[in-house]
Amino acid sequence: MLGSSVLHRGSKIVIASHNEGKVRELGELFEPYGIVCVSAGSLDLPEPEETGDTFEENALLKAHASAQGSGMLALSDDSGLEVEALGGDPGIHSARWGGPTKDFGLAMQKVHEALEATGGAFSRANFTCALALAAPDGGEAVYTGRVFGHIQWPPRGDRGFGYDPIFVPEGHTETFGEMDPALKNELSHRMRAFEQLMAANYAEDGASD
Ligand code: IMP
Repeated sequence: MLGSSVLHRGSKIVIASHNEGKVRELGELFEPYGIVCVSAGSLDLPEPEETGDTFEENALLKAHASAQGSGMLALSDDSGLEVEALGGDPGIHSARWGGPTKDFGLAMQKVHEALEATGGAFSRANFTCALALAAPDGGEAVYTGRVFGHIQWPPRGDRGFGYDPIFVPEGHTETFGEMDPALKNELSHRMRAFEQLMAANYAEDGASD
């Protein structure tokens, strides 16, 4: 359990991620609330092994490691692309499909080839994001957001990161890789988890218990 309003204007949190795309998007989400984000990378915090079976377990693991390592409130993001026709793959293994060099051109190609092997290149898909908060005293909370859409081939757009160029959100024609980043931030799995996290943990006036 975390206190009911651990976040307020002026709070400083560690973003427990070494993924620049995530650190940037999370920084943009927190900025209007006056919350200062420091990345785990800039504090030289180690990246724990993701041994959980769910996005939520892995997010909690990373948040606790950064909270313990820094003595600060830490936020982590575990996320990935789930492709319906692939039974939810790459899912929690989304980062690993990019190989040791995190080559997402290769990861997107693998999604395409796996889909072709099922007899079609089109599939419904969703991004999922679990955001976990952990305090140095062991307090924790986790929130999950999803955005649904479909897989696009060939990839389009060079904005965003990871699998963005092959994902078209429902009700739109552009991929996340083509879209204005502000619009991606309005629609995204990350924003949906973020809204729940802020509703439960943010108090404008800085009251805390
Ligand atoms: P992890 O959460 O560090 O295990 O990595 C999640 C992986 O999922 C990232 O490296 C990306 O490849 C992918 N991913 C997560 N969120 C997004 C997103 O918003 N756009 C594109 N790819 C994403």
